[in-house]
Amino acid sequence: MYRRVSILLRKHFVSVLILCASIVIPFSSVKAADPAKGKALFQTNCASCHNVHKKLTGPALAGVEGRWADKKLLHQWIHNSASVLATGDKYANDLFNEFNKTAMTAFPQLSNEEIDDILAYIKVEEVKTPGGAKTPGGDTAPAGAEKGNDNSLLFGIITLILAVVALILMQINSNLNKLAGDKEGVPTPDPVPFYKNKAYLALIILVLFMVGGYLTIQGAVGLGRQKDYMPEQPIFYSHKVHAGINQINCLYCHAGAEKSKHAMIPSENICMNCHKAIKEYSGPELTTAEGKKVDGTAEIAKLYDYVGWDPEAGKYTKPGKPIEWTKIHNLPDHVYFNHSQHVVAGQQQCQTCHGAITEMDEVHQFADLSMGWCINCHRTTKVQFADNNYYSIFEKLHQDIKDKKIDSVTVEMVGGTECQKCHY
Ligand code: HEC
Ligand code: HEC
Ligand code: HEC
Ligand code: HEC
Ligand code: HEC
Ligand code: HEC
Repeated sequence: MYRRVSILLRKHFVSVLILCASIVIPFSSVKAADPAKGKALFQTNCASCHNVHKKLTGPALAGVEGRWADKKLLHQWIHNSASVLATGDKYANDLFNEFNKTAMTAFPQLSNEEIDDILAYIKVEEVKTPGGAKTPGGDTAPAGAEKGNDNSLLFGIITLILAVVALILMQINSNLNKLAGDKEGVPTPDPVPFYKNKAYLALIILVLFMVGGYLTIQGAVGLGRQKDYMPEQPIFYSHKVHAGINQINCLYCHAGAEKSKHAMIPSENICMNCHKAIKEYSGPELTTAEGKKVDGTAEIAKLYDYVGWDPEAGKYTKPGKPIEWTKIHNLPDHVYFNHSQHVVAGQQQCQTCHGAITEMDEVHQFADLSMGWCINCHRTTKVQFADNNYYSIFEKLHQDIKDKKIDSVTVEMVGGTECQKCHY
């Protein structure tokens, strides 16, 4: 009887393990949609026309998943709304007419996962009351981040429980084995407890070694990266007030972005072009990320102190000293990055790389500036290839386009992933 159970267990032991693994692995490898990423994507791509609660150019997006019968169709809509309208889908066409036949921008570059991230962000935002319940500096979306962690914690616990179950089964198996052996008079050695079993110990050490190695490498690669870095600046200068509410063009202050390698931080003279006249701040209330109130007028007074301007007398009364802005973005010295190449030749928007600056009171680093980030964009972004003298040397690519072998040219195809293009 024991023997039979034992054989049964032994026979099925492998299947039990496989079963455990097959429950855990798919869950742990399916990445849960990440609302924090979705928020960033939403702000860069969608916020110009959509709000979660308010109707803008496009409809309020709260509850949108419930309005679409089919998630695949919703994905297709966001990739290219015209293609859904062309199928004659009634819901889509009614919506299109309701919004005066305004065409929504197509987003072929967004992956399905990225769209799911955006939808997850909308879901998180839905439950908040409109306008309220905003965390200060809410750009980091703490609610969403916590949710993501919860899931991985859950899967971690399930994995642990299943591992313990597997261990217990293995112990029972060897105990039964011994009992069966004893009964039939076959001498079997005492089962080795698992903490003395060399095979188990070796396995545990191997796993620890792999986890440790992975974490060390991750940490080493991340050295010097500073995504979301937001230092306190000497003057609380708000991009939201200047570039957002007052619509001052980025290039008015960062003229270098079009002409040179560096975008450059404006000198105080540029500030004084306006602030000789603008002495007080009367816009919407300003708060720091920690939620402290900021007095805009007092911040303008700090500017006067730096440049030595007396607003009462209306003239410079003492020598100025430079404002020591803390630099936020810092590529390592071995990397070559050129703004004008990207802004003028590459036609890239500031916001693609720097995020929704016009929404930020205090600037933070939006992209991680990793090598993978540069390369991924070079793989997917098309260059203005036709009728461009700069690319006339790529005869083969021009011929391929003529022969209709390819219909566009990415940065990668003109050498944008060659090491020496980015590394000194
Ligand atoms: C240029 C403005 C514009 C941008 C940018 C834009 N949309 Fe839209 N969107 C619209 C309009 C307008 C509609 C209404 C339908 C129509 O007129 O085409 C719409 C409709 C939608 C709908 C259907 C809403 C419903 O109630 O069923 C979804 C979902 C949607 N957009 C998602 C997005 C996402 C996600 C992004 C960013 C990746 C985005 N949109 C960017 C203008 C825009
Ligand atoms: C009125 C002048 C002004 C305008 C307009 C302006 N900026 Fe700035 N910008 C500054 C100043 C001053 C700083 C340095 C202080 C800081 O980081 O907030 C700065 C910093 C930055 C930084 C961070 C630089 C670093 O240290 O790494 C980025 C990125 C940036 N601006 C992008 C933009 C973009 C994009 C726009 C347009 C949407 C814009 N700026 C419009 C004045 C301006
Ligand atoms: C293709 C991505 C990309 C685009 C597009 C882009 N930037 Fe940058 N920006 C960067 C990177 C990367 C750095 C860090 C450069 C460094 O450390 O040498 C940076 C740095 C900056 C800085 C800090 C000062 C400097 O020059 O190092 C400012 C200010 C800035 N960008 C403003 C802008 C503005 C304004 C625009 C739009 C006109 C813009 N950027 C477009 C990637 C980009
Ligand atoms: C093109 C005109 C213009 C330029 C250039 C300009 N500002 Fe302003 N600034 C404004 C306007 C408009 C306001 C908002 C006034 C209001 O709403 O009452 C403002 C508000 C401010 C405020 C109070 C709100 C806040 O952001 O904290 C400060 C501080 C300030 N500016 C500093 C600067 C600095 C520093 C520079 C140079 C880097 C600069 N400004 C360049 C137009 C300008
Ligand atoms: C948002 C997309 C995007 C990102 C992110 C980006 N690039 Fe680019 N990059 C481009 C485009 C588009 C061009 C092609 C410009 C042209 O037509 O010459 C380009 C061209 C270049 C070139 C010239 C390549 C050649 O073949 O001549 C270099 C060097 C370069 N990028 C460096 C970088 C570095 C370093 C980073 C990361 C810090 C980066 N880029 C991030 C879009 C991007
Ligand atoms: C499109 C630009 C680009 C190209 C092409 C590129 N790199 Fe990089 N590389 C970067 C940037 C940006 C960094 C630094 C940022 C980071 O990874 O933290 C970097 C960092 C590195 C580092 C330092 C390790 C690290 O993580 O900081 C090494 C080594 C490196 N690159 C090797 C290469 C090799 C080899 C190639 C050719 C196969 C190459 N790179 C091509 C942009 C580029």
